[in-house]
Amino acid sequence: MTHITITAASGKLGHAVAAELAARGLAGQTRLAARDPQKLTGLEAQGFETVAADYDDPASLRAAFAGTEAVLLISSMGTNEQRIRQHRTAIDAAKAAGVRHVVYTSTTNPSHDSRFEWSGAHVETEAYLKASGLGYTILRDNSYFSNNDGLFAQAVATGTLPFPGVDTPVAYISHEDAAAAAVGALTGAGEPDTIYEISGSQAYSARELAAILSRLSGRPVEAVDVPLQAYTDQFRALGFPDFVVSGLTSFYAALGAGEFSAVSQDAERLGGRRPTTTAREYLRRFVPADTETLQRAFLAARTANAFTDRPVPDELLRRLYDIVKWGPTAFNAQPARFVFIRTPEARARLLPALSPGNVDKTGKAPVTVIVAQDTRFFEHLPTQFPAYDAKPLFEGNAALTEATALRNSSLQGAYFIVAARLLGLDVGPMSGFDAGKLNAEFFPDGRWQANFVINVGYGDPSGNRPRGPRLDADTATQFL
Ligand SMILES: NC(=O)c1ccc[n+]([C@@H]2O[C@H](COP(=O)([O-])OP(=O)(O)OC[C@H]3O[C@@H](n4cnc5c(N)ncnc54)[C@H](OP(=O)(O)O)[C@@H]3O)[C@@H](O)[C@H]2O)c1
Ligand SMILES: Cc1cc2nc3c(=O)[nH]c(=O)nc-3n(C[C@H](O)[C@H](O)[C@H](O)COP(=O)(O)O)c2cc1C
Repeated sequence: MTHITITAASGKLGHAVAAELAARGLAGQTRLAARDPQKLTGLEAQGFETVAADYDDPASLRAAFAGTEAVLLISSMGTNEQRIRQHRTAIDAAKAAGVRHVVYTSTTNPSHDSRFEWSGAHVETEAYLKASGLGYTILRDNSYFSNNDGLFAQAVATGTLPFPGVDTPVAYISHEDAAAAAVGALTGAGEPDTIYEISGSQAYSARELAAILSRLSGRPVEAVDVPLQAYTDQFRALGFPDFVVSGLTSFYAALGAGEFSAVSQDAERLGGRRPTTTAREYLRRFVPADTETLQRAFLAARTANAFTDRPVPDELLRRLYDIVKWGPTAFNAQPARFVFIRTPEARARLLPALSPGNVDKTGKAPVTVIVAQDTRFFEHLPTQFPAYDAKPLFEGNAALTEATALRNSSLQGAYFIVAARLLGLDVGPMSGFDAGKLNAEFFPDGRWQANFVINVGYGDPSGNRPRGPRLDADTATQFL
């Protein structure tokens, strides 16, 4: 049975909504409509029904909406006049087809006073939908990060991010996070007949975006204030029609003037999760993969002393272990053991063993892992190192066993640090604790022993200490 129809499903938002619906197991209840259904190729294999529907063809819309309870009306592209007519056609078709609930993607701050010229189409559509008698949800989407893709790529290449108002924050949202909110609205997460402000969970100025690009790329990127005319010239040079040149220029005028600065929690309310795409995550794609990987693992990565409240799912920690386990160890002995502390009860057992300077930050970390070593790691050697019978080497040799456990569990702790960073996490390793106390509390039978502990989460850079220098190669290396 079809419960949901998505119009303009062939665009970026449409594809993100389809991905979110598929992830929630709702593909089989969803019809995806596009004026050119060829652009939906591949989605039928995921269980979606795909149909043709053009905002300029009322009959195609009525057919697409037949038997549907809820419609996501993704706003069209065109002049205000075209959009208003097309959206009205779609709303009328929804009514005629017996649809109960229309979710419409509007814009932040829709007002005839807005600097953003295309705001007018949203003002008129919102009013028409409200007066239609249909149940409605209006999603006022903030600027999608992807609007600036050209600018971001240019900024990494040239070192300059031109923006009309470099210090004005914009609460950008990704298509994925906007899609989560839209699917929430379609599936009853919101209140009836309500307007939601769909923004990211943080607003960023161009200056802040440039600083993030600098950190990610390891090259200076500077935000530079430019007059709007520079934008107009660039859009014209790209060959856009006049209404697009002036519409897009007016959009950047509105961004620069702070019309899109407000952060709202509505996306989380509807989507059931915080918008997960931070600017740092979004901007990674503009940095060459090898540079970005080195920055993320070593060059730009910092030791975290404070964390945001973003949770770290157990699933991610399992995935992390499944990467770490592939790091090399002597005899493939893998002596490290990882104890993930996530609950307040477990944390309360850990804190008394820590040095005073580590207590506060560990109390606030989302996860702390005890990197321990199994003093009888050699019992696994027959299965883990079948090439050679190494178990007897260790069984009767406490000194070798101890040295091997320490060396290799330390290595595995280091693999953990690097792998966590590559998965987008931040870490704060610590050896300031009372090993006797910690071992007595967590490993009373003595088989496992703590090596060091690591706080894990999404770092809050305000906790970073000034970065210490590193020894240069002349001091720390020899080439023989
Ligand atoms: N909040 C923001 O920052 C922002 C930015 C850009 C756009 N928008 C608005 O939000 C909408 C979704 O954004 P998006 O990023 O997904 O844009 P997009 O990738 O450009 O997609 C636009 C969609 O509108 C469809 N469309 C245009 N005319 C149509 C018609 N006559 N009948 C049926 N479908 C038609 C397009 O179909 P085709 O694939 O056949 O062309 C496409 O699927 C846009 O259409 C626009 O109204 C918002
Ligand atoms: C094994 C290990 C133990 C550490 N122990 C502590 C600790 O007990 N308390 C603390 O605040 N920082 C501790 N640190 C953090 C280091 O001081 C920090 O990683 C180092 O200065 C580099 O900082 P940066 O990554 O921000 O450049 C430890 C780091 C490591 C790798």
